[in-house]
Amino acid sequence: MSDKANAPTATPAAGSSAGLRGVAAATSSMSDVLGDKGQLTAQLKKVGAIPKEERPAFGQAINRIKAELTQAKEARQAALKKQELERSLTTNALDVTLPGRPALRGRLHIATQIMRLITSIFADLGFQVYRSREVEDDLTNFELLNMPPHHPARDMWDTFHTTTPGVILRTHTSPGQIHVMRECCPEPIRVILPGMCYRYEAITPRSEIQFEQVEGLAVGENITMADLKGTIIAFARRLFGQERQVRFRSSYFPFTEPSIEVDIDWPKDDPNADRLTKGTGWLEIMGAGMVHPTVLKNGGYDPARFRGFAFGMGPQRITMLKYAIDDIRQFWANDVRFLEQF
Ligand code: PHE
Repeated sequence: MSDKANAPTATPAAGSSAGLRGVAAATSSMSDVLGDKGQLTAQLKKVGAIPKEERPAFGQAINRIKAELTQAKEARQAALKKQELERSLTTNALDVTLPGRPALRGRLHIATQIMRLITSIFADLGFQVYRSREVEDDLTNFELLNMPPHHPARDMWDTFHTTTPGVILRTHTSPGQIHVMRECCPEPIRVILPGMCYRYEAITPRSEIQFEQVEGLAVGENITMADLKGTIIAFARRLFGQERQVRFRSSYFPFTEPSIEVDIDWPKDDPNADRLTKGTGWLEIMGAGMVHPTVLKNGGYDPARFRGFAFGMGPQRITMLKYAIDDIRQFWANDVRFLEQF
């Protein structure tokens, strides 16, 4: 096949457009005869000048000539077309034995990969995914989470405001707790709420104005702090390794009571251990706690009957730990040299 493809043709200059021009030329001279302004039509117009008895014979003769010429023209056109097709099939033959061009394969962004990993671990633990909005109102992002307008804790979550008063970009995934509770009340809940969050911050290697969070929420009649601890330990060991030790420190969030922060120990033989843990051997991975009675009430649950736990973590931070990435700005910089490493 490739022999044929490379063989010189009789008319090397004749590309397919030249061939088509040939067909067009052959038919254009025919229209001088057959066309509306052609010679045959001109003859037909003369019929009035002919004696009456000769007219039928004259007309028939002209029409016969026209039919014959039309037929001849069409036959010739078809032949030329066929010839042209054959010529192009041989000169432009496709060599199916040549190797194909490699298709560039894409891959999932590292943030998507980690998000899927976290989602699948929680799916195994019985948590469903609940999607909630990135554009929130002040009420849900702060007030219903036990942070009234004057609350000093709001300082930790400065955000972007839209031109509509009270409509903001969410600073954490916690407002999703209110949405899911109001939708599911009075049923028990076990969900994670992944998604993008925004904060008005100076961009540095450690802080970005946008980042993802994964919130967790469980609500039920018999939920205790032991369930929270068990869930977090199971998650941390699946993500970082079965030998990981988990440490709980008491902390403060307006929407949980009691509140904790969760650390994992970092392998001492890791060359980055000292820098990452600032010499302590422990690394913070999330905030958590028992859902505050006020928040349960705002979600529609009776705090005398129901209890819940909640946690919130930053997958970008977790990815930085897992792969020793030292600059959070890499995640959304779209630099392929960074992205290709995962
Ligand atoms: N929303 C908190 C933050 O952004 C994290 C958190 C979630 C803490 C749930 C406790 C419970 O820092």
